[in-house]
Amino acid sequence: MISNRVVFFDTTLRDGEQSPGCSMTTQEKLTMAHALEDLGVDIIEAGFAMASEGDFAAIATITQAVRKPRIASLARAKTEDIEMAARALQFADRSRIHVFLASSDLHLEYKLKMGRAEALDLCGESVRLARSLVDDVEFSPEDATRSDRDYLVEMVRIAVEAGATTINMPDTVGYSTPEEYGRMFAEVRERIPAIDEQGIVLSSHCHNDLGLAVANSLAAIQNGARQVECTINGIGERAGNAALEEIAAALYVRGDRYGVDTNIKLVNLYPTSQVLGQIITFRPSPNKAIVGDNAFAHESGIHQHGMLANPLCYEIMTPALVGVAKTHLVLGKHSGRAALRHRLEQLGFTLTREELQQTYYRFVALADRKKNIYDQDLVGILPDQIRENRRVPVAELD
Ligand code: KIV
Ligand code: ZN
Repeated sequence: MISNRVVFFDTTLRDGEQSPGCSMTTQEKLTMAHALEDLGVDIIEAGFAMASEGDFAAIATITQAVRKPRIASLARAKTEDIEMAARALQFADRSRIHVFLASSDLHLEYKLKMGRAEALDLCGESVRLARSLVDDVEFSPEDATRSDRDYLVEMVRIAVEAGATTINMPDTVGYSTPEEYGRMFAEVRERIPAIDEQGIVLSSHCHNDLGLAVANSLAAIQNGARQVECTINGIGERAGNAALEEIAAALYVRGDRYGVDTNIKLVNLYPTSQVLGQIITFRPSPNKAIVGDNAFAHESGIHQHGMLANPLCYEIMTPALVGVAKTHLVLGKHSGRAALRHRLEQLGFTLTREELQQTYYRFVALADRKKNIYDQDLVGILPDQIRENRRVPVAELD
């Protein structure tokens, strides 16, 4: 019987860091690792020990300061990589070596210049070596989604027999579709019964080249994956990795469809996104789901009116659920009288019907010329007698 708990494996500090503008110092990685621990992430991939001295130092530092999540290091299927990962992880309470080796003909031929049989041998040897050093080993057949299916199954079978405790099947280039990706998990489980029998965890790892990373991750979960690999704000190689905050929110909001539990403290999603935004060189785009500036902002009059009547009209979750302070009714040229009155009342101005009408005409004219309307602008267009009756302290204005 497969568990209903989905484990979150965060790779912000490894795959996320591999994207331009995202490199982090050890101290910054440590800050981020603490935020991920507070968020309830189960496993932190802290780096790729063999890649650089900096990565090694960051992994070693994190293992000594962050105790709740398991700490992982990536390693190629090479003895020196695996031994280096084990050294970086030696002080961890709970560690994982994550071994990867390409399984697609394209990668084997052009990148590794290796035959299929040689790669199968290497897979078995590498996983066995890693298992002799730590008791928790993840194996990833890189480019799994573009691999010959029979060969992929063979490689996974060998990794399982060699002692892998988690099998991650990455959509390395973001090529798969949800139906296809989900089907791959179902098929691998059907063809290798030992996976379910021995409680081996299947894992998704999706890149976002077609904008399908989160949809693919959810499809994997529906087909038995019980680990998702993802990053905060979806940062990562090229178009990024599956966004942790989107998967966690989808599993919660659509619990009716997924029926799985996680350890993620949803209220920490936005604060964690903010921590990352302060460390790297860019913030999520304003329309980014869950954590973007506009994720809980409403501008059009019809939406604002609905929101004021009942937020459920246009919000499928409260901002508070994911740690955002409040819904933002943005005043712009599509806004209506209801939102204008609401904001003016918040600022301490109660207007009669006629006064509101007069102010509204001025507001629409201003909004046609100006992209952002601030509280000072609103005060500026109020009829004189109203403005003079209520002096608004500057601190109350946005
Ligand atoms: O995208 C990928 O295939 C990876 C592996 C190293 C897991 O990041
Ligand atoms: Zn990746």
